[in-house]
Amino acid sequence: MATITFQTHDGKTFTVEAANGTTVMENAIKNAVPGIEAECGGACACATCHVYVGEQWKDQAGDVDPMEEDMLDFAYDIRPTSRLSCQVKITDELDGAVFEIPERQA
Ligand code: FES
Repeated sequence: MATITFQTHDGKTFTVEAANGTTVMENAIKNAVPGIEAECGGACACATCHVYVGEQWKDQAGDVDPMEEDMLDFAYDIRPTSRLSCQVKITDELDGAVFEIPERQA
């Protein structure tokens, strides 16, 4: 279990309890966090679940696999900390992590 926070581009924050093994995207949808569209339902095929992982949480968020890397090319305003939130699994290590939501999705 981890407590994670989503921050929208205009500064609103949503702090939610996330179960281990679920994805960051699933927790955003379940809690009606605005700005995560997740059109493909988590299949790594749409890039509309794009988030920025806080710099200090990058390692805990796990590696970016090649499929995610390819799909990130379709996301809006990519940065070094960009991730597709459907590909980031919750673990205890992510307790306290902050995920910023871009101004818009692809
Ligand atoms: Fe489609 Fe993440 S929900 S790529």
